[in-house]
Parts: sequence; structure tokens; C-alpha cells
Amino acid sequence: MDTTPAIEAVGLTKMYGSFAAISDVNLTVRRGEFMGLLGPNGAGKSTTLKAITGLLKPTSGSVRISGIDIREHSKAMQHVGCVIETPEPYPGFTPAEIMQYVARMYGLDSRETAIRARDALETVKMWEWRDKKVGGFSKGMRQRVVLAQALLPNPDTIILDEPTSGLDPRGMIEIRQSLAALKNRDRSLLISTHILSEVSELCGSVAMIRDGRVITQGDVSTLIHGVGGRQISLEIRTVAPFTSQIVKNIEGCQGVSSTEHMGDCSLRVTFTGTPEQQAHLTETVFRSGLGVLAMNEKGANLESLYMELTEGDEVK
Ligand SMILES: Nc1ncnc2c1ncn2[C@@H]1O[C@H](COP(=O)(O)OP(=O)(O)OP(=O)(O)O)[C@@H](O)[C@H]1O
Ligand SMILES: [Mg+2]
Repeated sequence: MDTTPAIEAVGLTKMYGSFAAISDVNLTVRRGEFMGLLGPNGAGKSTTLKAITGLLKPTSGSVRISGIDIREHSKAMQHVGCVIETPEPYPGFTPAEIMQYVARMYGLDSRETAIRARDALETVKMWEWRDKKVGGFSKGMRQRVVLAQALLPNPDTIILDEPTSGLDPRGMIEIRQSLAALKNRDRSLLISTHILSEVSELCGSVAMIRDGRVITQGDVSTLIHGVGGRQISLEIRTVAPFTSQIVKNIEGCQGVSSTEHMGDCSLRVTFTGTPEQQAHLTETVFRSGLGVLAMNEKGANLESLYMELTEGDEVK
């Protein structure tokens, strides 16, 4: 199996005078991996993506796409589809005409153009609209046409800078569904976004960037659950009421900081411990003989991780 990463950025730094828009950014997107790039406004997401796609020359550092140095731009970008500050599609054109235009840039013949245009427009659910002028489309539809442009060359690697920004919920969901449909096809994706659920639904891994530096990177579920030490709240619902002895046993488990009765058969446990300690707590609860109906874990999500890592940031 080819283990060459889809994207490998090493030590990327971009200086504007004495200001570092990004410093020493290291990012690896493996083949078949979907990675979300998260961070507050001005964190350096667009700068990173521009440096990766060669739209901007970094002050230092290097980028390889499928093993090819981005300085060999056309060769490295041959199998990349990207949407980064792409201008809106020309209103007088239809999606079909736009696909033809893009196909010509990639030197595709007419047979291949027809196949790929249909595939790209179907993926973004715009095939039915192929012969209508873009000018009359909603913002979400135009955004999907832009995405189809990126998908037209059937790229292995897709790089998108906030593809759902400014869309209404339906528009966002439709773009997300289009991207999810690409998952079965062994493609790699690097996507920047402000929408945390977009990352948790779409991406297996995440990189968080703040003040131009990558502050954490890795598997989404490992980051959320694996480290431990993060405060979570466990809501336990049982058939039989909690006795004071059982509550005492639960409070005696390592990592438990407090408990709160939510009702006779419902207890909220605040926990800050390791995964092993959490496993022990779970066993204690199940062995209590109360008949556990449900045990919900709250706070162990991307949102709480993000809030923790960006703590102290003000709204800019
Ligand atoms: N051409 C430029 N000249 C000077 N500073 C710049 C330039 N481009 C970006 N910056 C600065 O670099 C930093 C990173 O900007 P960037 O656009 O990469 O952030 P971002 O994470 O994409 O933010 P947003 O979420 O708002 O899109 C910001 O402080 C920005 O003001
Ligand atoms: Mg940006």
C-alpha cells in the first residue's frame, strides 16, 4: 500500500513584516484521511491552505502533495481539487458550460469531459440544473457549482477553505452530504471550517490552529476521549432508586469530583480522570444492581475540547 501522505506540510511559516501569520505549521494528512482545520478568526487557516496549495509562498517551510514538492506546482496540483477564495461563477454561464471550461483547462477530451462533468454535478446534486444560468441560483447552489469545479478533475486530494461559510442550514447540510459522498472513494480531504459539527460528522482527524500555530492535531475521538483529565458529566438513569451506600461507592471512585441527585433514579456524576478510571467507574455503576437504563456522557465532545484549547480568546 502507498503510505506517502496526501499532504505533508513541514515547518510552514509566513511572515508579514515582523508579524507571523503562521509559524512552524506541521500538518500531515494521510491518504484516505479527512482532516478538519479549526481555529478562531485570524488563526491562520487560510494562510496555511494557501501555502499548501501554492497560492502563497511561505517565508520558510515546505509542502509535499502526494510526495511531490509544491514548488513543482502544476505537477503537485495535478490530482488536487481546491476551493480557496475562488471567485463566484460567472452568472451568464450554466453549470454545464462551466464544467466544459474547467475541463479544457485540464486538457480533458470531450468524452472524458462528459463523464466527469456528470459525476461532479451529480455529486453536488446540481446535475438537474446543468443547463440553467448560474445567475438565478441561490448562494448555496452557486457554492455547489464551485465545489463541482474542484471535483471535476476527479482529484485524489481535496482542499477547501470554509466551503459552507455564509450558507443557510440546508445549504450547509447539502455541501456536507456532497463531501461525505466522496468518502467511499479513497480520497483525502483537508477542510477549514468554523463549524465544529462539520468536523465531527465529516472528519476522522482534526488540527486546531491558534495564533498561527498548530496547538493540537490527531484523531478526533482520541483527542476527545483519549487524553483524560477533561471534566465530563455522566448522567445515569436506573430502574431502582440510588441508595446512599451506592452513591458513596460511586463517590469513592477515583476521578469522581461530585455527584448530584437529579431524581430518585437519576444521578449526575462529575468526573475528571483517566480513561482507565472512567472504565472502573462504569463497572462500579453496572455492578450496583440498580438496573442501568442509560448512561450519558456529556462534555466529551469537540466543542468542549475547542473551548478548552481556545480559552482566553475574545470575540474578534
Ligand atoms: N496579506 C496580509 N498581510 C498582512 N497580514 C495578513 C495578510 N493575510 C493575512 N494576514 C494576517 O494573518 C493572520 C492569519 O490570517 P488568515 O486569513 O490565515 O486567518 P484565518 O484563520 O483564515 O481566519 P478566518 O477564520 O477569519 O478566515 C491574521 O492575523 C491576518 O490578519
Ligand atoms: Mg480564512
